[in-house]
Amino acid sequence: MRSLIEGYLGVTEEGRKSRLPAKLDWWQSATGLFLGLFMWGHMLFVSTILISNDFMYTVTKMFEGSFIFGDDNSKPILVSIAVFIVFVIFIVHAGLALRKFPSTYKQYKIMKTHTAALKHDDTKLWFIQAYTGFAMFFLGSVHLYVIMTSADKIGPYGSADRMVSDWMWPLYLLLLLAVELHGSIGLYRLSVKWGWFDGKDAKATRAKLKKIKWAVTVFFLVLGFTTLAAYIKIGLEHKANYGERYHPAQTQSLNQTQLYSIQGVHS
Ligand code: HEM
Repeated sequence: MRSLIEGYLGVTEEGRKSRLPAKLDWWQSATGLFLGLFMWGHMLFVSTILISNDFMYTVTKMFEGSFIFGDDNSKPILVSIAVFIVFVIFIVHAGLALRKFPSTYKQYKIMKTHTAALKHDDTKLWFIQAYTGFAMFFLGSVHLYVIMTSADKIGPYGSADRMVSDWMWPLYLLLLLAVELHGSIGLYRLSVKWGWFDGKDAKATRAKLKKIKWAVTVFFLVLGFTTLAAYIKIGLEHKANYGERYHPAQTQSLNQTQLYSIQGVHS
């Protein structure tokens, strides 16, 4: 309780300036950086479905430790543990962000009026960050809980069934929008806040970073929507066989001679 008040007011009980707000700010940045970079990797992993079902299957099995246990004995619990860790970091990040939300309608109105008066782009970005962050409290939690408790159902058919037959696609649509805006604005604000790429001309660097930020947002949104469409297509085609697990095409493990003999080609 004491540290909560200290974190909020920035003053200790003895009236000295507290270091806690700075520490909490550092943790908020660190957890945000982890989640932002994690999401880049995550989107690339999920989008492997655009290459082929087999490729997505192989990558999924790899996360389940197939390189140690083999494909048939892989351990989805490893994915559940990873999700649990990400979930904890996600909750810590969201909890720390709560300090920055206006706590009364009056505070909210004052902030809105100042934003309109300032006409400052980065202040508007802060609002997008707050709205999308708020949406992710709910949307992200549902996704993480579902994936954590049914990690064994990740795969070309399992994921597509979840999207279509289990009706997750509307949630993913909203989550995708929120996460891509939130993530890239967050990474941009982090680089400005901590001056990571500050050169001689900080203003010019900021303008460049802003362009990169938009490019990253557009790239991941296009990739995300295309990926979502691919899963929905598979999910619709697979509706009648809901629950069936994907197995890579048998021909994959055959060599060229065996293939020719199946096809009746003789050299
Ligand atoms: C270790 C943690 C995570 C794992 C293993 C994971 C796994 C997955 C998988 C397998 C899918 C494909 C659909 C499905 O099977 O239901 C997916 C989609 C998605 N995930 Fe995650 N996820 C994780 C964390 C997150 C987080 C933290 C967020 C954002 C808050 C997120 C946002 C999304 C979005 C937006 C999609 C839809 C992507 C698209 O269709 O383009 N995921 N995730």
